[in-house]
Amino acid sequence: MVGRGLGGVGWWEGVLVVMEERGPGNGGKGLGRMEGRGLGGGGMVGRGLGGGLVEESDYGGGGKGLGRMEEKDPEKGDGKGSWEGWLNGVLVVVGWCEGALVVLKLADDELEILKEHRRQELQARQEAYQWKTFAEGWPRCLNVDSVFELDSNVQFSCVRATNFNGLLIFQTASHLLAGFLVRPTSWKSLDEIRSIFSRTKVPEYVAAHWQEDDFFGYQFLNGNNPIVIRQCAALPAKFPVTPEMVADFLGGGTTLDKEMREGRIFIVDYDVLEDTPAGTIHGRQQYITAPLCLLHQGTDGLLRPIAIQLSQTPGPSSPIFLPSDAEWDWLLAKTWVRNADFYSHQLLAHLLRTHLFAEVFAVATLRQLPSCHPIFKLLIPHFHFTLHINTLARSVLINPGGVIDKSSGATYEGLVLLVQRGLEKVTYSSLCLPDDIRQRGVTQIPNYRYRDDGMILWETIQRFVSAIVDFYYKEDAAVREDAELQAWVMDIFVNGFLSRNSSGIPSSFQTVAELSKFLTMVVFTCSVQHAAVNNGQYDLGAFIPNAPSSMRHPPPKTKGKTVLQHFLDTIPEVDTTANILVALILLSSRLNDMRLLGQYPEERFTEAEPRRILRTFRAELEEIRELIEERNHVVTLRYNYLNPLETENSVSI
Ligand SMILES: [Fe+2]
Repeated sequence: MVGRGLGGVGWWEGVLVVMEERGPGNGGKGLGRMEGRGLGGGGMVGRGLGGGLVEESDYGGGGKGLGRMEEKDPEKGDGKGSWEGWLNGVLVVVGWCEGALVVLKLADDELEILKEHRRQELQARQEAYQWKTFAEGWPRCLNVDSVFELDSNVQFSCVRATNFNGLLIFQTASHLLAGFLVRPTSWKSLDEIRSIFSRTKVPEYVAAHWQEDDFFGYQFLNGNNPIVIRQCAALPAKFPVTPEMVADFLGGGTTLDKEMREGRIFIVDYDVLEDTPAGTIHGRQQYITAPLCLLHQGTDGLLRPIAIQLSQTPGPSSPIFLPSDAEWDWLLAKTWVRNADFYSHQLLAHLLRTHLFAEVFAVATLRQLPSCHPIFKLLIPHFHFTLHINTLARSVLINPGGVIDKSSGATYEGLVLLVQRGLEKVTYSSLCLPDDIRQRGVTQIPNYRYRDDGMILWETIQRFVSAIVDFYYKEDAAVREDAELQAWVMDIFVNGFLSRNSSGIPSSFQTVAELSKFLTMVVFTCSVQHAAVNNGQYDLGAFIPNAPSSMRHPPPKTKGKTVLQHFLDTIPEVDTTANILVALILLSSRLNDMRLLGQYPEERFTEAEPRRILRTFRAELEEIRELIEERNHVVTLRYNYLNPLETENSVSI
């Protein structure tokens, strides 16, 4: 608690403490300066009772502190006024009575004075947090141009900012020293590429196994972009694979038709990339294509590619590549798929579907829900640092001249277009893991750790969220009549999903069940889904041939011409690789003040039942951790991205 020599009122280890004034010069009896850190989250800043101004230092006193306190009797400039503000969802009035400081608590939701407080709080927030359009057809975002415009509630902490900058400078310097960032030429050999990343287990595994079909197939299930593969019940006309072409790769005694009927054929289609304009790097033209890849689940349960077409238009200049082709033909075809996956992963699965949506949920929450609202208390920890990291991303990563513009083939124009197209295709069901798994037809496929871990976590989050919701909303009518909640979901529908009804995103809630499902999706997207697409970036991307950020030659139109040198001249050159690597290191680093899923140090809920629900949630997450770690002991390549010990509460990096 920081008293600055003046008196004050605040929580100290669960007890409301009144401090006497200690010094003159601050107007009357002195409600002084109480800062949140010593108070467990909330706090207040004031100029003394006589001065009459007490400001919030948390989102309106959501923590243990007294929140916004306003002078009730401004005419009493002698330090004898009274003040009111929110404290853990309860209105508190503090005033002087016959020389003694009196604290009154008011808790009736129907009191006009309470309603007025909620309205005033929201009005202030809607002025502070406004929407803006970063690019047409994108989810809207917070209306700030740099992190310096963010208020202290949503900025990085000092620890995180120092950590983040230190890491960036260190990594940049270390690669600069090695001279990689200033070499705009092709890699001399695959071994030279291996030399750039620090010796860590998974990148080494990738560098040893990246050519293998098993590992290529594995990454559609457990790599950075595990949401694009779907079951293929019928081949699309644009991908005319014949039964004869792939007969040899299915194992004996079966046919493509039979495998398809029995659900063991899968497809990945990067149609979203079609006709994306590619830019130049070092003045040289780059290339983007929109491949299709057919995969088969073998009798050993492993998934392997059996045919690849490097465009959406079949024909003589777009041959279908097969595992039986010459080594470098097949490897280059697979590498084109990996390049398409790089864009699909970074711009759609990662940027759009976690970072930008998390920001939409965060801004709508700040604009529409007062601090005392139970859904505000539930959600706000899941937006920790999100506005800061996204503002930073708009300044250095996805801006014109940023990392994506400079170090990927997509350029700024390309990424704007891809996110636009991506948003047009987003559906509510694709954001809800159980629905998504069903719709992609991947309920049965073995070794799908993203699905298995993700489903357990979805169900656990759903139980937690539903228990909280059920505690506060006893019947559907309570949901329907909660005007703040309805305004919140409408704000998300309009500004996040641009009022597109075909997305299936709700614009209102009719039932308790609808509310619980939506909130589960929000918490899951901000925590688990982001972990799935974020945490493996360095592991799987450090060895650049496995996830090239750009291609320097057009896709091959004929077979039989590719050799190693052509391959090295196609994947990114040395300096582009190094730029990407620096970004990957930063984006998959663990920072000191991360908050893991289920950690709520602010303790916004004060009632016994929600606190019990939180304890149960944490206990269940601990069981999931044990389950995942036990499994990881017995597999060659461990899938640890959704271990609750690796999963943050929020999109913060
Ligand atoms: Fe991220």
